[in-house]
Amino acid sequence: MSNDTPLGLSSRRDFVRTAIASAGMLAAGGVRVLGAPRPPPAGNRNPLKIPPIVSPANLDLSAAPAVVPLGGGKTSSALAYNGLFPGPTILANSSDSAAVRLTNGLSDGTTIHWHGMIVETAADGHPKDLVDPGVSYLYEFPIIQRACLNWYHPHPHMMTGEQVNLGLAGAFIIRDAQEAGLGLPSGAYEVPLIIRDANFDRSGNLIYNPRTTGFVGKISLVNGTLDPQLNVEKALYRFRVLNGSNARIFRLSLDNGVPFHLIGNDGGLLESSVELGQIELGPAERLDLLVDFRNVLAGTKVMLRCLDAGWDLLEFDVTQQVNAGGTIPTTLSTITPLSNPVTTRFFSFDGMSKINGLEYDINRTDFQVPFGQTELWRFTTNGNAPHPVHVHGASFQVQTRTKGRGTVVPWERGWKDTVLLQDQETVEVLIRFDGYRGLYLIHCHKLEHEDMGMMSNFQVV
Ligand code: C2O
Ligand code: CU
Repeated sequence: MSNDTPLGLSSRRDFVRTAIASAGMLAAGGVRVLGAPRPPPAGNRNPLKIPPIVSPANLDLSAAPAVVPLGGGKTSSALAYNGLFPGPTILANSSDSAAVRLTNGLSDGTTIHWHGMIVETAADGHPKDLVDPGVSYLYEFPIIQRACLNWYHPHPHMMTGEQVNLGLAGAFIIRDAQEAGLGLPSGAYEVPLIIRDANFDRSGNLIYNPRTTGFVGKISLVNGTLDPQLNVEKALYRFRVLNGSNARIFRLSLDNGVPFHLIGNDGGLLESSVELGQIELGPAERLDLLVDFRNVLAGTKVMLRCLDAGWDLLEFDVTQQVNAGGTIPTTLSTITPLSNPVTTRFFSFDGMSKINGLEYDINRTDFQVPFGQTELWRFTTNGNAPHPVHVHGASFQVQTRTKGRGTVVPWERGWKDTVLLQDQETVEVLIRFDGYRGLYLIHCHKLEHEDMGMMSNFQVV
C-alpha cells in the first residue's frame, strides 16, 4: 500500500486527525485538476517581486488574509504578513535588538518562529505560546549571532503547513562586520530568492491540498512570483536562497554553463567558496550564492532550473551594462569546529509522525540537554524520508552521513540548523546550546510530518 495519500480536506485539524488516524488508508481523488497558471509564452515572464526591507527594531507585523499579486496581472487570495507575499525582508545587524509585534488577523491561532535565530523560548514562537485571533504578541530579542539568512514563519500546533503554504513566510537577514569586510555584492546586486511550490484552484487562488507524504505543488513560485524574470547586468550577483516549500526538494542549476559559487548556507559564511554545477536544497535550507554574469554575453537568458522537477524557476536576462569590479573571495570566514561530545543522543524519524516512537505532545518534554555542553546527535530513519531535520535554539555542524548518499555535501559544511535525512541515511551532527536555557523543538521540517507529530520538546537546562 502506498503511503502517498491525498488529503483534500477543508479543515487543517481534520487533516491532521484523519492523517494520523488513517495514514495510507484514504481513497484517491482528493486533489483537484488545476486550471490555473500555465507556463508563459517565451519572452512573457513576470518581473521578480523583491519584498521591501524593514528593520526589526520596532516592527508591526499583521498576519491576515490578503489578495496578493503573482505577476502578469494575476492575483491570489493568501495569508500574508502586512499584506505581502512573501512578507517583508527583515534586515538587522548582529547585536541589534528586535521588537516585533505580531497582530493575528487570521481565523486560527498562530505564532512566529524565527527559523535559525537563537532566541529565548518566549520569543521562539513555540506552539504553546499560541497567539489567538485578534490578539497581539510582542517578540523581543537581541540578535546574538553572526551574519546569515534566516527566515520567519508560523509555528502553531498542527497548522504550520497550511499557514506557511498559504503565504506566511519571509526572509530575515543578519549582517556583521566580518561579512562587510568581504565587499560582497550589495544593493541591487544582492537578491533574496524564496523558492517554493504551490497549487492553485480553478480561479487561480492558492490552495493547500496536502498529502501525508508532504504537500507537493505543481507550480513554482520565486518570491511569490509566477514565471519570474530578473534583468541582471554583466556583474557579480549575490543570491540569498531559501527553500520555502512545505516538502519539496529542489536540485538547483543554472543553464548556459554558468556555475554557482557557494559562499554560505543556513548559519552564514563557509570557510571558503566552492564552485558547483548543481545543489540539492531541502525544505527550510538556505544558500548564499555568487553568480558571475560578467562573462555572459549581453542578451543571453540564463535560467535557474530545478533538475529534479524539470522546472524553469527564474530567468536572468543579461543586459548590456558592464559593472566593473567585485571579486569572488576564496577565504570567507573561520568556523571553529565543535569537538569532543560529552553525550550521544539518538533520534529515529519513524513513519510520518513520530520521533523515537512518539508523536508530539505539546505538554510533554522528551529530554533535557545541559547548557553549554557539546553533544553528538545521530539522526536515522526507517523510511518515509526525506525528513529535513531541524533544531531550534542552536546551530549544529554536520559530521558524517553514512549509507544513502554516504557523504556530507559541500553546502552542509559550516553551521546548519536543518539537514536533509534521506531513506537509509544516518546523519551525525555536533551541537552545543550556548544561547539560552529553555524549551526548544526538534522536528521534521516536512511541514505535514511536523503537523502530524514528528516533533519533540526538549529543555536546555
Ligand atoms: Cu522553520 Cu520549527 O521551524
Ligand atoms: Cu519527515
